[in-house]
Amino acid sequence: MPSVTFEAPPHKTVTIEAPEGGSVADLCDKYEAPVPFSCRSASCATCRCEVAAGADLLAAPEDEELDILDVLGAPKTHRLACCLKLKAGPGLVVLKPVNDY
Ligand code: FES
Repeated sequence: MPSVTFEAPPHKTVTIEAPEGGSVADLCDKYEAPVPFSCRSASCATCRCEVAAGADLLAAPEDEELDILDVLGAPKTHRLACCLKLKAGPGLVVLKPVNDY
């Protein structure tokens, strides 16, 4: 069963169990995880997060996500939460939002 932990001090750390995987943005909405969103379509980078653990549990980024991360000069460990799809299976993903919530 994958879990996703959101670490965004000074906000409370939130850990979500996601047995079926799925959209990280949907999980954030459902469990009020401390990740800011705006466009939700890989164009504003408001939702940029560092993937501190479990990158292999996330589906590979598509071109539009890679394009904006490239424009930003983001490290390879950064992803856009609005684009993240969690794979089903065991493990832990740790996400640290880069922008203030
Ligand atoms: S909310 Fe705009 S890129 Fe994710």
